[in-house]
Order: sequence, then C-alpha cells, then structure tokens
Amino acid sequence: MDYLIEKASWRDFFDLYRLEKTVFAQDAWPWFDLLIVLTFPGFVRLKAVSGGQMIGFAAGEFRRGDGAGWVVTLGVLPEYRRKGVGQALLRQCEEWLNSKRIRLCVRKSNLPALKLYQREGYVVYTTWPNYYQGGEDALVLEKIFPS
Ligand SMILES: CC(C)(COP(=O)(O)OP(=O)(O)OC[C@H]1O[C@@H](n2cnc3c(N)ncnc32)[C@H](O)[C@@H]1OP(=O)(O)O)[C@@H](O)C(=O)NCCC(=O)NCCS
Repeated sequence: MDYLIEKASWRDFFDLYRLEKTVFAQDAWPWFDLLIVLTFPGFVRLKAVSGGQMIGFAAGEFRRGDGAGWVVTLGVLPEYRRKGVGQALLRQCEEWLNSKRIRLCVRKSNLPALKLYQREGYVVYTTWPNYYQGGEDALVLEKIFPS
C-alpha cells in the first residue's frame, strides 16, 4: 500500500473530524480540541495519506512542566491497520518532538496500541486511575532516548 506522511494543518479539520469519530468512537475528541491540535503553535501534527484520503493521524507536543514530549493522539483507520502506518506515524512524531523522554497514555485494555508501544520501546511510567470515559485506567508509557 502506498501512503505518505505529511504535515497536517487547519485545512485537514473535516478529514480529521471524520477520522477521529471512526477511530476513537467513545474517546473521540470534541471538535475544538481537534482545531487546537491543528492550529496551536508547539504541536507537531502529521497525517498519513493514501489515494488522497487521510488514513491516519498523530500529534505531539513538548510539555515543559514535566520535561517530556507527549504523543497526544495516534490513530489509523481500521481498514489500513497492520500495514505499518501507526508505527511510521509514531516514529515521525518522535523525531519531530526530538525529546529525551517521550510519554503517552493509553487505555489499559487497548492491546493493539500496547503491543505497538511495547515494540517501539515504551515502558509503563505510571497509572492514572479512572482516566477514561467509563472509568478505565490509563497507563502512562514512557520511552527514553539515549543522549
Ligand atoms: C494502535 C494503532 C494506531 C496501530 O496502528 P497500525 O497502523 O495498525 O499499527 P502498525 O501496523 O504500525 O503495527 C506495528 C506493530 O504493532 C503491533 N500491533 C499493532 N496492532 C496490533 C494488533 N491489533 N494486535 C497485535 N499487535 C499489534 C504489531 O507488533 C505490529 O507489527 P506487525 O503488524 O508486523 O505484527 C491502531 O490500531 C489504531 O488506530 N487503534 C485505534 C486508536 C488507538 O487505540 N490509538 C492509540 C491510542 S493511545
């Protein structure tokens, strides 16, 4: 499958809105959070595109408060999964963040994502109890890059 990873912008709002609903269902961000991630300075926002369609999206930011880059979202449309798109988006996001520590959070039960993150070198940093809708805990994962 041919796809490209490109920088996203506010022009991708409606595509991202549709992708978000499909990929995250109950955890989908509200539209104003999507607009923020597409427009606010300091965010890296990347889209995977195949045949003119947005098939995946990732975003991250550096948070001074905890001295770490955060991957704040990562998702791939169901029919394009297990083709390396998620891994490619994650790696490019990490590259853009260019931080010694990178963190992200994930539902405890989200095995596909946990497998991907484990494979990419993330380990559990802490747990945020009752973080997600429905009361599920979040695992906060961290990857430390050698300096
Ligand atoms: C998690 C997600 C982004 C992975 O995207 P993807 O494009 O399918 O991932 P990749 O094809 O790059 O997978 C890379 C590796 O991760 C692991 N992996 C990914 N999905 C997996 C699954 N369903 N089961 C087991 N391992 C999986 C595998 O090791 C895989 O390599 P392999 O296919 O050679 O075995 C995708 O499943 C998704 O969008 N899920 C819904 C949204 C979500 O949960 N996002 C993360 C929120 S923290």
